[in-house]
Amino acid sequence: MSQAVLILIKPDGLKKSLTGNILTRLSETKLEIVAAKMVRVSKELAEEHYQHLKDRPFFPEIIKYLRGELHDRRKVMAMIYWGKDAIKKCRDLAGATNPEEAEATSIRGSYGRITTSGIYENVIHVSSNEAEAEREIKLWFSPDEIIVDLYPTKETVEKECRHKAWA
Ligand code: PPS
Repeated sequence: MSQAVLILIKPDGLKKSLTGNILTRLSETKLEIVAAKMVRVSKELAEEHYQHLKDRPFFPEIIKYLRGELHDRRKVMAMIYWGKDAIKKCRDLAGATNPEEAEATSIRGSYGRITTSGIYENVIHVSSNEAEAEREIKLWFSPDEIIVDLYPTKETVEKECRHKAWA
């Protein structure tokens, strides 16, 4: 059955100009990209993304990391890959969360590192399971930004809502 997975190319991946390499590696999966965008990550978004880690000692640092404060790159590339066994296929290519433990040829094994303060700079985030993928995708994307219907939606009419439009 088709599965969706959230992939983030984190600020270290962008700073090291790894976007092309990472996309090439991920294309080995033959999965479909059904959404992609650059995101300037707010504190609220980063904290919500890593909400299950809020009691861990490294929480403040990973918030700064995801927001680009450690790499002077205030952006993240967010994508949704979709297809059969998407989570396992992407996680296998990404390698273990700890870049020291990741297989040498994996994305994290090739490009990740652990900082002197013990933070994993592991270049990409990949959702860990289907429930997390759904939570994360709904956090990072609105239904209109995804070219397939992944989850049930409802129609809403927004009144007096400010949007930027092309002048
Ligand atoms: S858990 O509870 O450790 O299994 O959590 P997990 O879902 O694997 O996510 C941990 C995220 O925190 C990032 N990170 C670290 N984890 C553990 N130890 C250290 N020192 C650490 N530094 C950073 C780790 O990379 C996971 O983020 P993502 O974005 O998923 O890689």
